[in-house]
Amino acid sequence: MIPFNKPYCSGRELSYIQEVCHSTTMSGNGQFTKLCHGFFEKRYGFRKCLLCTSGTDALEMCAMLCQLKPGDEVIVPSYTFVSTAIAFLREGAYIRFADSGADNPNVTAEQIEPLINEKTRAIVVVHYAGVACDMDSIMAVAEKHHLLVVEDAAHAIDSYYKGRPLGSIGHVAAFSFHETKNINCGEGGMLVVNDERLVGRAEILWEKGTNRAEFYRGMVNKYGWCDMGSSFLPSEFNAAFLWAQLEQLDDIQGKRGHIWKSYDQALRGHLNNGIMLPEIPDYATNNYHMYYLLCPSLAFRTALMNYLKNHGVQATFHYLPLHSSKYYEDKHDGRILANCDRYADTLVRLPLFYELNDDDIAKIVKLLLSFRF
Ligand SMILES: Cc1ncc(COP(=O)(O)O)c(C=O)c1O
Repeated sequence: MIPFNKPYCSGRELSYIQEVCHSTTMSGNGQFTKLCHGFFEKRYGFRKCLLCTSGTDALEMCAMLCQLKPGDEVIVPSYTFVSTAIAFLREGAYIRFADSGADNPNVTAEQIEPLINEKTRAIVVVHYAGVACDMDSIMAVAEKHHLLVVEDAAHAIDSYYKGRPLGSIGHVAAFSFHETKNINCGEGGMLVVNDERLVGRAEILWEKGTNRAEFYRGMVNKYGWCDMGSSFLPSEFNAAFLWAQLEQLDDIQGKRGHIWKSYDQALRGHLNNGIMLPEIPDYATNNYHMYYLLCPSLAFRTALMNYLKNHGVQATFHYLPLHSSKYYEDKHDGRILANCDRYADTLVRLPLFYELNDDDIAKIVKLLLSFRF
Protein backbone atom coordinates (compact mmCIF):
# COMPACT_ATOMS: atom_id res chain seq x y z
CA MET A 1 0.00 0.00 0.00
CA ILE A 2 1.35 3.46 -0.83
CA PRO A 3 0.37 5.38 2.32
CA PHE A 4 -1.10 8.86 2.25
CA ASN A 5 1.71 10.16 4.45
CA LYS A 6 4.99 9.01 5.92
CA PRO A 7 6.52 11.53 8.33
CA TYR A 8 9.96 12.76 7.31
CA CYS A 9 13.11 12.21 9.39
CA SER A 10 16.38 13.87 8.43
CA GLY A 11 18.48 11.36 10.38
CA ARG A 12 19.93 13.90 12.81
CA GLU A 13 16.95 13.97 15.18
CA LEU A 14 18.34 11.30 17.52
CA SER A 15 21.77 12.92 17.87
CA TYR A 16 20.17 16.27 18.78
CA ILE A 17 17.86 14.52 21.25
CA GLN A 18 20.92 12.88 22.75
CA GLU A 19 22.50 16.32 23.15
CA VAL A 20 19.44 17.33 25.16
CA CYS A 21 19.91 14.24 27.36
CA HIS A 22 23.42 15.42 28.18
CA SER A 23 22.47 19.06 28.73
CA THR A 24 21.14 20.86 31.79
CA THR A 25 17.84 21.92 30.14
CA MET A 26 15.28 19.36 29.07
CA SER A 27 12.17 21.44 29.71
CA GLY A 28 11.24 24.27 27.32
CA ASN A 29 12.97 27.41 26.07
CA GLY A 30 16.48 25.93 25.98
CA GLN A 31 19.09 26.07 23.23
CA PHE A 32 17.11 24.15 20.58
CA THR A 33 13.98 26.22 21.16
CA LYS A 34 16.07 29.36 20.72
CA LEU A 35 17.69 27.97 17.55
CA CYS A 36 14.22 27.29 16.08
CA HIS A 37 12.89 30.74 17.09
CA GLY A 38 15.96 32.41 15.59
CA PHE A 39 15.63 30.44 12.35
CA PHE A 40 12.02 31.49 11.80
CA GLU A 41 12.52 35.09 12.88
CA LYS A 42 15.53 35.54 10.59
CA ARG A 43 14.27 33.63 7.55
CA TYR A 44 10.73 35.01 7.52
CA GLY A 45 11.04 38.26 9.44
CA PHE A 46 8.41 37.20 12.01
CA ARG A 47 8.42 39.72 14.88
CA LYS A 48 8.17 37.12 17.67
CA CYS A 49 8.04 33.32 17.49
CA LEU A 50 7.06 30.99 20.32
CA LEU A 51 7.15 27.24 19.76
CA CYS A 52 4.06 25.44 21.05
CA THR A 53 3.14 21.84 21.70
CA SER A 54 0.73 21.86 18.74
CA GLY A 55 -0.88 24.08 16.14
CA THR A 56 -4.01 23.83 18.29
CA ASP A 57 -2.13 25.34 21.24
CA ALA A 58 -0.80 28.11 19.03
CA LEU A 59 -4.38 28.87 17.94
CA GLU A 60 -5.51 28.89 21.58
CA MET A 61 -2.84 31.48 22.31
CA CYS A 62 -4.03 33.52 19.29
CA ALA A 63 -7.56 33.41 20.70
CA MET A 64 -6.38 34.45 24.19
CA LEU A 65 -4.48 37.36 22.64
CA CYS A 66 -7.71 38.60 21.06
CA GLN A 67 -9.04 39.32 24.60
CA LEU A 68 -12.60 38.36 23.77
CA LYS A 69 -15.60 39.14 25.96
CA PRO A 70 -18.78 37.04 26.20
CA GLY A 71 -20.95 37.79 23.17
CA ASP A 72 -18.03 38.73 20.93
CA GLU A 73 -18.03 37.17 17.50
CA VAL A 74 -15.18 35.71 15.47
CA ILE A 75 -15.39 34.85 11.77
CA VAL A 76 -13.87 31.44 10.99
CA PRO A 77 -13.90 29.37 7.78
CA SER A 78 -16.18 26.36 7.96
CA TYR A 79 -13.84 24.37 5.75
CA THR A 80 -11.03 23.84 8.27
CA PHE A 81 -9.85 21.62 11.07
CA VAL A 82 -11.92 21.80 14.24
CA SER A 83 -9.08 23.43 16.25
CA THR A 84 -9.45 26.66 14.24
CA ALA A 85 -12.92 27.11 15.72
CA ILE A 86 -12.51 25.49 19.15
CA ALA A 87 -9.68 27.84 20.12
CA PHE A 88 -12.07 30.83 19.88
CA LEU A 89 -15.09 29.01 21.23
CA ARG A 90 -13.11 28.23 24.40
CA GLU A 91 -12.63 31.97 24.88
CA GLY A 92 -16.40 32.45 24.82
CA ALA A 93 -16.78 33.70 21.26
CA TYR A 94 -19.71 33.03 18.99
CA ILE A 95 -18.29 31.56 15.80
CA ARG A 96 -19.75 32.89 12.57
CA PHE A 97 -18.70 30.51 9.85
CA ALA A 98 -17.60 31.81 6.45
CA ASP A 99 -17.94 29.95 3.17
CA SER A 100 -14.95 29.09 0.97
CA GLY A 101 -14.34 30.82 -2.35
CA ALA A 102 -15.44 29.36 -5.68
CA ASP A 103 -11.90 28.84 -7.01
CA ASN A 104 -10.20 27.25 -4.00
CA PRO A 105 -11.09 26.36 -0.39
CA ASN A 106 -9.81 29.68 1.03
CA VAL A 107 -12.17 32.33 2.38
CA THR A 108 -12.40 35.65 0.56
CA ALA A 109 -13.01 39.25 1.67
CA GLU A 110 -16.34 39.20 -0.19
CA GLN A 111 -17.57 36.32 1.94
CA ILE A 112 -16.21 37.77 5.17
CA GLU A 113 -17.45 41.36 5.04
CA PRO A 114 -21.22 40.67 5.10
CA LEU A 115 -20.70 38.61 8.29
CA ILE A 116 -19.25 41.55 10.23
CA ASN A 117 -21.45 43.26 12.78
CA GLU A 118 -20.90 45.41 15.91
CA LYS A 119 -19.96 42.29 17.95
CA THR A 120 -17.26 41.03 15.55
CA ARG A 121 -13.73 41.19 16.99
CA ALA A 122 -11.56 39.02 14.78
CA ILE A 123 -11.25 37.28 11.42
CA VAL A 124 -9.48 33.93 11.16
CA VAL A 125 -8.19 32.85 7.76
CA VAL A 126 -6.77 29.46 6.79
CA HIS A 127 -4.20 29.31 3.99
CA TYR A 128 -5.51 26.00 2.70
CA ALA A 129 -2.88 23.64 1.29
CA GLY A 130 -0.28 26.35 2.01
CA VAL A 131 -1.76 28.60 -0.69
CA ALA A 132 -2.35 32.18 0.45
CA CYS A 133 -5.73 33.78 0.95
CA ASP A 134 -5.97 37.16 -0.82
CA MET A 135 -4.60 38.99 2.19
CA ASP A 136 -4.62 42.57 0.86
CA SER A 137 -8.40 42.58 0.55
CA ILE A 138 -8.88 40.71 3.85
CA MET A 139 -6.55 43.09 5.74
CA ALA A 140 -8.37 46.07 4.18
CA VAL A 141 -11.74 44.78 5.44
CA ALA A 142 -10.23 44.13 8.89
CA GLU A 143 -8.74 47.62 9.07
CA LYS A 144 -11.99 49.23 7.97
CA HIS A 145 -13.87 47.49 10.81
CA HIS A 146 -11.00 47.59 13.40
CA LEU A 147 -10.70 43.81 13.63
CA LEU A 148 -7.77 41.56 14.46
CA VAL A 149 -6.66 39.06 11.83
CA VAL A 150 -5.43 35.61 12.81
CA GLU A 151 -3.66 33.55 10.15
CA ASP A 152 -4.14 29.82 10.62
CA ALA A 153 -0.95 28.94 8.78
CA ALA A 154 -0.99 25.29 9.88
CA HIS A 155 -0.28 24.19 6.27
CA ALA A 156 1.65 27.23 5.21
CA ILE A 157 5.30 27.10 6.28
CA ASP A 158 7.63 28.57 3.66
CA SER A 159 4.85 30.00 1.51
CA TYR A 160 4.31 33.59 0.36
CA TYR A 161 1.67 36.15 -0.60
CA LYS A 162 2.97 38.79 -3.03
CA GLY A 163 6.46 38.17 -1.68
CA ARG A 164 5.44 38.31 2.00
CA PRO A 165 5.80 35.14 4.10
CA LEU A 166 2.50 33.66 5.24
CA GLY A 167 2.26 34.09 8.99
CA SER A 168 3.77 37.59 8.81
CA ILE A 169 0.69 39.47 7.58
CA GLY A 170 -2.02 39.10 10.24
CA HIS A 171 -1.70 40.39 13.81
CA VAL A 172 -0.92 36.83 14.96
CA ALA A 173 -0.47 33.46 13.25
CA ALA A 174 -0.36 29.77 14.12
CA PHE A 175 1.75 27.07 12.43
CA SER A 176 1.53 23.30 12.90
CA PHE A 177 4.40 20.83 12.98
CA HIS A 178 2.13 17.78 13.21
CA GLU A 179 3.51 14.69 11.47
CA THR A 180 1.45 15.40 8.36
CA LYS A 181 3.06 18.81 7.78
CA ASN A 182 6.09 19.67 5.59
CA ILE A 183 8.30 19.87 8.68
CA ASN A 184 7.27 18.04 11.81
CA CYS A 185 8.17 17.06 15.34
CA GLY A 186 5.36 14.55 15.86
CA GLU A 187 3.07 17.04 17.54
CA GLY A 188 4.17 20.68 17.53
CA GLY A 189 3.29 24.19 16.52
CA MET A 190 4.31 27.81 16.69
CA LEU A 191 2.70 31.11 17.56
CA VAL A 192 3.86 34.13 15.57
CA VAL A 193 3.14 37.58 16.95
CA ASN A 194 3.47 40.38 14.42
CA ASP A 195 1.66 43.11 16.37
CA GLU A 196 4.20 44.67 18.73
CA ARG A 197 1.44 45.44 21.27
CA LEU A 198 0.75 41.73 21.78
CA VAL A 199 4.33 40.46 22.21
CA GLY A 200 4.70 40.99 25.97
CA ARG A 201 1.39 39.31 26.79
CA ALA A 202 2.15 36.40 24.44
CA GLU A 203 5.35 35.67 26.38
CA ILE A 204 3.38 35.64 29.64
CA LEU A 205 0.60 33.35 28.32
CA TRP A 206 3.29 30.99 27.02
CA GLU A 207 5.01 30.72 30.40
CA LYS A 208 1.97 29.75 32.54
CA GLY A 209 0.88 33.33 33.18
CA THR A 210 4.23 34.43 34.61
CA ASN A 211 6.75 37.09 33.58
CA ARG A 212 9.56 34.54 33.45
CA ALA A 213 10.73 35.93 30.07
CA GLU A 214 11.44 39.33 31.68
CA PHE A 215 13.23 37.55 34.52
CA TYR A 216 15.47 35.66 32.03
CA ARG A 217 16.29 38.97 30.35
CA GLY A 218 17.28 40.44 33.72
CA MET A 219 14.47 43.01 33.65
CA VAL A 220 13.00 41.90 37.04
CA ASN A 221 14.74 40.14 39.93
CA LYS A 222 11.98 37.57 40.47
CA TYR A 223 9.08 36.36 38.40
CA GLY A 224 5.48 35.78 39.40
CA TRP A 225 1.89 35.33 38.31
CA CYS A 226 0.69 38.27 36.17
CA ASP A 227 -2.03 37.00 33.84
CA MET A 228 -3.80 33.93 32.44
CA GLY A 229 -1.64 31.35 30.75
CA SER A 230 -0.84 27.72 30.32
CA SER A 231 2.10 25.44 29.61
CA PHE A 232 2.19 26.04 25.88
CA LEU A 233 5.92 25.55 25.37
CA PRO A 234 7.27 22.21 24.15
CA SER A 235 10.19 20.43 25.79
CA GLU A 236 13.67 20.64 24.35
CA PHE A 237 13.25 17.11 22.98
CA ASN A 238 10.57 18.31 20.57
CA ALA A 239 12.56 21.42 19.69
CA ALA A 240 15.69 19.31 19.01
CA PHE A 241 13.66 17.08 16.68
CA LEU A 242 12.26 20.13 14.89
CA TRP A 243 15.71 21.70 14.54
CA ALA A 244 16.96 18.60 12.69
CA GLN A 245 14.12 19.18 10.22
CA LEU A 246 14.65 22.92 9.87
CA GLU A 247 18.25 22.34 8.86
CA GLN A 248 16.86 20.36 5.91
CA LEU A 249 13.98 22.66 5.02
CA ASP A 250 15.24 23.55 1.53
CA ASP A 251 15.90 19.91 0.71
CA ILE A 252 12.44 18.90 1.97
CA GLN A 253 10.78 21.64 -0.05
CA GLY A 254 12.77 20.69 -3.16
CA LYS A 255 11.67 17.07 -2.88
CA ARG A 256 8.05 17.93 -2.21
CA GLY A 257 8.14 20.36 -5.14
CA HIS A 258 9.40 17.60 -7.43
CA ILE A 259 6.50 15.33 -6.37
CA TRP A 260 3.87 18.07 -6.73
CA LYS A 261 5.12 19.07 -10.18
CA SER A 262 5.36 15.43 -11.29
CA TYR A 263 1.68 14.92 -10.45
CA ASP A 264 0.73 18.17 -12.10
CA GLN A 265 2.67 17.64 -15.34
CA ALA A 266 1.31 14.13 -15.72
CA LEU A 267 -2.32 15.03 -14.96
CA ARG A 268 -2.96 18.58 -16.23
CA GLY A 269 -4.56 18.42 -19.64
CA HIS A 270 -4.54 14.62 -19.62
CA LEU A 271 -7.53 13.83 -17.40
CA ASN A 272 -10.78 13.40 -19.31
CA ASN A 273 -12.90 11.97 -16.52
CA GLY A 274 -14.19 15.24 -15.01
CA ILE A 275 -11.58 15.60 -12.24
CA MET A 276 -10.32 19.15 -11.69
CA LEU A 277 -6.86 20.13 -10.46
CA PRO A 278 -5.76 22.82 -7.99
CA GLU A 279 -5.18 26.35 -9.30
CA ILE A 280 -2.59 28.54 -7.59
CA PRO A 281 -3.54 32.26 -7.79
CA ASP A 282 -0.91 34.65 -9.22
CA TYR A 283 -0.46 36.32 -5.84
CA ALA A 284 0.41 33.06 -4.06
CA THR A 285 3.34 30.66 -4.03
CA ASN A 286 3.04 26.92 -3.66
CA ASN A 287 4.81 25.32 -0.67
CA TYR A 288 3.87 21.86 -1.96
CA HIS A 289 2.03 20.93 1.19
CA MET A 290 -0.73 19.10 -0.68
CA TYR A 291 -1.79 17.85 -4.08
CA TYR A 292 -5.56 17.63 -4.25
CA LEU A 293 -8.15 16.73 -6.88
CA LEU A 294 -11.73 17.96 -7.13
CA CYS A 295 -14.15 15.26 -8.23
CA PRO A 296 -17.46 15.95 -10.01
CA SER A 297 -19.53 14.49 -7.13
CA LEU A 298 -19.43 12.73 -3.76
CA ALA A 299 -20.35 9.41 -5.39
CA PHE A 300 -17.51 9.87 -7.89
CA ARG A 301 -15.05 10.62 -5.09
CA THR A 302 -16.12 7.61 -3.04
CA ALA A 303 -15.69 5.37 -6.07
CA LEU A 304 -12.30 6.91 -6.89
CA MET A 305 -10.99 6.50 -3.34
CA ASN A 306 -12.15 2.87 -3.28
CA TYR A 307 -10.56 2.26 -6.69
CA LEU A 308 -7.24 3.69 -5.49
CA LYS A 309 -7.44 1.72 -2.25
CA ASN A 310 -8.17 -1.53 -4.11
CA HIS A 311 -5.06 -0.84 -6.19
CA GLY A 312 -2.85 -0.14 -3.18
CA VAL A 313 -3.02 3.65 -2.89
CA GLN A 314 -4.30 5.48 0.15
CA ALA A 315 -5.92 8.80 -0.79
CA THR A 316 -7.89 10.83 1.75
CA PHE A 317 -10.76 13.30 1.76
CA HIS A 318 -10.51 16.41 3.90
CA TYR A 319 -12.50 18.50 6.29
CA LEU A 320 -16.09 17.88 7.23
CA PRO A 321 -17.86 21.27 7.32
CA LEU A 322 -17.83 22.69 10.84
CA HIS A 323 -21.06 24.69 10.50
CA SER A 324 -23.10 21.50 10.01
CA SER A 325 -21.14 19.35 12.47
CA LYS A 326 -23.01 17.53 15.24
CA TYR A 327 -21.57 19.94 17.80
CA TYR A 328 -22.34 23.18 15.98
CA GLU A 329 -25.37 22.70 13.71
CA ASP A 330 -27.84 24.02 16.29
CA LYS A 331 -25.60 27.05 16.94
CA HIS A 332 -25.01 27.92 13.27
CA ASP A 333 -27.08 30.80 11.91
CA GLY A 334 -28.58 28.63 9.16
CA ARG A 335 -26.79 30.04 6.11
CA ILE A 336 -25.98 27.54 3.39
CA LEU A 337 -22.24 27.38 2.73
CA ALA A 338 -22.32 25.80 -0.70
CA ASN A 339 -18.65 26.03 -1.64
CA CYS A 340 -17.56 24.57 1.68
CA ASP A 341 -20.01 21.68 1.23
CA ARG A 342 -18.73 21.10 -2.30
CA TYR A 343 -15.07 20.87 -1.19
CA ALA A 344 -16.06 18.58 1.69
CA ASP A 345 -17.82 16.24 -0.78
CA THR A 346 -15.41 16.30 -3.69
CA LEU A 347 -11.84 17.04 -2.57
CA VAL A 348 -9.37 14.16 -2.39
CA ARG A 349 -5.73 14.40 -1.37
CA LEU A 350 -3.03 12.29 -3.01
CA PRO A 351 -0.02 10.80 -1.19
CA LEU A 352 2.72 13.44 -0.89
CA PHE A 353 5.71 12.78 1.34
CA TYR A 354 9.49 12.96 1.09
CA GLU A 355 10.08 9.28 0.35
CA LEU A 356 7.42 8.96 -2.35
CA ASN A 357 9.41 7.93 -5.43
CA ASP A 358 8.90 8.35 -9.17
CA ASP A 359 7.60 4.79 -9.54
CA ASP A 360 4.96 5.42 -6.88
CA ILE A 361 3.92 8.64 -8.63
CA ALA A 362 3.77 6.90 -12.02
CA LYS A 363 1.54 4.18 -10.53
CA ILE A 364 -0.83 6.72 -8.95
CA VAL A 365 -1.00 8.80 -12.14
CA LYS A 366 -1.75 5.72 -14.26
CA LEU A 367 -4.62 4.79 -11.95
CA LEU A 368 -6.04 8.30 -12.08
CA LEU A 369 -5.85 8.48 -15.88
CA SER A 370 -7.59 5.13 -16.28
CA PHE A 371 -10.36 5.69 -13.71
CA ARG A 372 -13.92 5.91 -15.09
CA PHE A 373 -17.14 6.44 -13.13
C1 LIG B 1 -6.01 24.26 9.23
C2 LIG B 1 -5.54 23.60 10.49
N1 LIG B 1 -5.46 24.33 11.61
C3 LIG B 1 -5.04 23.79 12.78
C4 LIG B 1 -4.66 22.48 12.86
C5 LIG B 1 -4.21 21.92 14.19
O1 LIG B 1 -2.83 21.67 14.20
P1 LIG B 1 -2.25 20.56 15.22
O2 LIG B 1 -2.63 19.22 14.69
O3 LIG B 1 -0.77 20.80 15.16
O4 LIG B 1 -2.82 20.84 16.57
C6 LIG B 1 -4.71 21.67 11.72
C7 LIG B 1 -4.31 20.26 11.81
O5 LIG B 1 -3.86 19.64 10.94
C8 LIG B 1 -5.17 22.24 10.50
O6 LIG B 1 -5.27 21.51 9.38
